[in-house]
Amino acid sequence: MPSDDARYYITTPIYYVNDVPHVGHAYCTLACDVLARFMRLDGRKVRFLTGTDEHGQKVEKAALAAGATPQEFTDKVSQNFRQMDAVMNFTNDDFIRTTEPRHYKSVQDLWQRLFDAGEIYLGSYAGWYSVGDEAFHTESELTLRDGKRYAPSGKEVEWVEEPSYFFRLSAWQDRLLELYEKRPDFILPETRRNEVVSFVKGGLKDLSVSRTTFKWGIPVPNDPDHIMYVWLDALTNYITAVGYPEQESADYRTFWPANLHMVGKDILRFHAVYWPAFLMAAGLEPPQRVFAHGWLLNKGEKMSKSLGNVLRPDDLVERYGLDQVRYYLLREIPFGADGYISHETMVTRINSDLANDFGNLAQRVLSMVHKNCEAAVPQPGALQPADEALLGRARALHGELRAVYEVQAFHRALEATWAVVGEANRYVDEQAPWALRKSDPERMQTVLYVLSEVIRRLAILTQPVMPDSIGRMLDLLALPEEARRFDALETPLSPGTALPKPAGIFPRFAEVEGDAA
Ligand code: MSP
Repeated sequence: MPSDDARYYITTPIYYVNDVPHVGHAYCTLACDVLARFMRLDGRKVRFLTGTDEHGQKVEKAALAAGATPQEFTDKVSQNFRQMDAVMNFTNDDFIRTTEPRHYKSVQDLWQRLFDAGEIYLGSYAGWYSVGDEAFHTESELTLRDGKRYAPSGKEVEWVEEPSYFFRLSAWQDRLLELYEKRPDFILPETRRNEVVSFVKGGLKDLSVSRTTFKWGIPVPNDPDHIMYVWLDALTNYITAVGYPEQESADYRTFWPANLHMVGKDILRFHAVYWPAFLMAAGLEPPQRVFAHGWLLNKGEKMSKSLGNVLRPDDLVERYGLDQVRYYLLREIPFGADGYISHETMVTRINSDLANDFGNLAQRVLSMVHKNCEAAVPQPGALQPADEALLGRARALHGELRAVYEVQAFHRALEATWAVVGEANRYVDEQAPWALRKSDPERMQTVLYVLSEVIRRLAILTQPVMPDSIGRMLDLLALPEEARRFDALETPLSPGTALPKPAGIFPRFAEVEGDAA
């Protein structure tokens, strides 16, 4: 197994192309982007994957409704997700589409391995299917309303009866439970883990893994009347992208098993039950972790195209600013829980956390440096206990962030960072460098040096969340690219370095008429 402190493979779900990209999708990829950026800056070799899930009945129906062939339709709509990545400044290293030849090859190989191992057999399926979820359901899971049956997600189900291949999921119950037992952090958060454990303890049925009543998908090797179940096809993307079936390839050896599959809570079962079972049955390693995040809600309902309540990432970015949106989404909602987003809380975060707390700290300090220290990094004298205390807090932050990012607690990372911002602001008020200017200019230099150093550390560590704005803040400290990596954290600012004229980094959000609507 690759050494874990050296590499980091992180994936988003691959998005169904029947939907327009909305802020729910952006939220999930954003979380991955921040982790990928953090790990890169921390010296790890990162692979960050996202993409689109293009097969299945749901997409076939959407193509038909749009008057296009599925291929034309997916070619077009997949682009929307690439655009979302660009708008949100995501740094994925790869973008996979399940319609690519590399993926066909990979899925067919995986199928063949499962078949050869006796894990797949031919039978026939009779039961309920939800096209909306691309999932099979038992009668007991359904709700009856006006003569129609609905899946737990609220999507309508239809009766399906057809020949089908089955995966022997029932045989994997004990080995799955053993996996959850041995690796207590395989599924996070813990409440979600407990749900999965009780689901598996309740018993597993063999899973239907092929369909014969539509065509848009990857055919079963040697039996092309059968199209593979879209989830078997889709989940395999995570290994396709690192070179499967070439298990000896450098990519596969370096990056598999993935460190983290980030998913929404609605698709946890597919990732934490079916996927590790498929992999183990094929003799491959399961991923190291599946994290299930919560939903972004709009008026209490999950945001989704079918409910007509979506917010578009590009609209939010245009209205509030890119880094503001990135910060807000990860700061406002404890990661893992469901949460609401609203104009009011967005404006509060922008004006108080960004403009007042961090922005103003940098602006005040760097303007004083510019005016009173000949526009260069000040020369510190002997440090006093208050200086040491603040610097100590800032020094400890890297370790604190490593620990919280390791468990995907973005909100805690930002809380910890802003706690140091708050300390720094209190220190400015207590030390009052503006008063020292006349009474003790040497001490003023020390205080401004300490503050510049603290801003440097805070900024370096905040780059993953707000890369552009913080990049500008680091420009104001005249730090070259290599001085922005985490291994440069212990290299302090060099007194006497010329600094550019400071400029505001985080503007206040000014309400204009109609904004609050
Ligand atoms: N195609 C499957 C995933 C296959 S992965 C091998 C799929 N696609 S999806 O587009 O419907 O959803 C992808 C992810 O977006 C899910 O994890 C889902 O939870 C997330 N979100 C969709 N709407 C969301 C919100 N309103 N809020 C947060 N995330 C949500 O499922």
